[in-house]
Amino acid sequence: MSLKSPKFATKALHAGIEPDPSTGAIMTPIYQTSTYVQASPGQNKGYAYARGKNPTRSALEKNIAALENAKHGLCFSSGMGATDAVIKLLRPGDEVVTGNDLYGGSYRMFTKVFEPFGIKFHFIDLTDAENINNYINANTKLIWIETPTNPTMQIVDISACARIAKANNIILAVDNTFASPYLQNPIDLGADIVMHSVTKYLGGHSDVVMGALLTNDDSIYERLAFIHNSCGATPGPMDSFLVIRGIKTLHLRMERHCQNGEIIAHFLRSHPRVEKVYWPGFTDHPNHDIAKKQMRGYGGMISFVLKDAGLEETFKFASSFQVFSLAESLGGVESLINHPATMTHASIPKQERENAGVVDALLRLSVGVEDIEDLLEDLKQALDG
Ligand SMILES: Cc1ncc(COP(=O)(O)O)c(C=O)c1O
Repeated sequence: MSLKSPKFATKALHAGIEPDPSTGAIMTPIYQTSTYVQASPGQNKGYAYARGKNPTRSALEKNIAALENAKHGLCFSSGMGATDAVIKLLRPGDEVVTGNDLYGGSYRMFTKVFEPFGIKFHFIDLTDAENINNYINANTKLIWIETPTNPTMQIVDISACARIAKANNIILAVDNTFASPYLQNPIDLGADIVMHSVTKYLGGHSDVVMGALLTNDDSIYERLAFIHNSCGATPGPMDSFLVIRGIKTLHLRMERHCQNGEIIAHFLRSHPRVEKVYWPGFTDHPNHDIAKKQMRGYGGMISFVLKDAGLEETFKFASSFQVFSLAESLGGVESLINHPATMTHASIPKQERENAGVVDALLRLSVGVEDIEDLLEDLKQALDG
């Protein structure tokens, strides 16, 4: 694409996507191959073995990189595979400053896989980024943030984190899964690496598990690409094709997720059975001003606490929906309800979980793109029933 400055919707459809050179097929073919024939040893057409490179995956990597205004993109077989590659940039003795409200799987990987290898993680309150300064020392090599956080929708100031990272020569990586590149571009705000669980909004149809890393830094890219190929958490071409197709409607889906999310957040807040609603679009959300500054919308992720509900009542409520499905994951076209304490965040010890607001009566919604009237009717019958 040779436009000077293509806009998001145009990039979603066209960036990195070329008609197939052999047939002109407008849709990127699924290059279902593990290897490529060489004219003589080492003489190939840029592809030698599919763990290292696959044309369907290459098109997708260019596409996601364009959406994040990044020079380089790498796709992984899951979001966790992508996160794993970032932590493998570190060495024993290195330290990481990260948030105390993280996706449970990231917390589990940091504490159960990488701490035994001698990497130290500080799980701290990042709602005031300046707090990071209290945990930086000569061994600090990485700041890992999630914003909005999963599941209590805290907002972390990406630019402030980037200033601290740059001043101390530390890499800043941002898990941008909840916002998607449509709502937030951390690299524009100074981040070095963006990570996505592509499984969520980018894929958008709950049919693929995938991760991605994006960066503008050539040297970080070289190191990540080496880990990518050496450790091998690379996705297959069929999944790459599905995500290319999913991304073509990312901007349309996100607009509807945001519209439906806003209506549902206000509805929940006004309901007498609901004690608390977490959604960064509320003007009295503690970091609403930062959300307004760094995001282009507030998305369809909402968490809320049922008033005076124990585990049994919360389970009963979570199982009483017609349109919202009780399931892990998020970001697909269909609406989901999740019970973080026993589902996505079960791997975090109870006390730590509750300190971060993940109490037994907390529920998380991934608001889909169904008709808003039907979603409201479903919520009403569950809350009033
Ligand atoms: C914020 C966030 N980061 C990372 C992940 C992990 O991604 P994956 O499930 O694709 O490995 C998830 C999955 O739920 C997530 O919600």
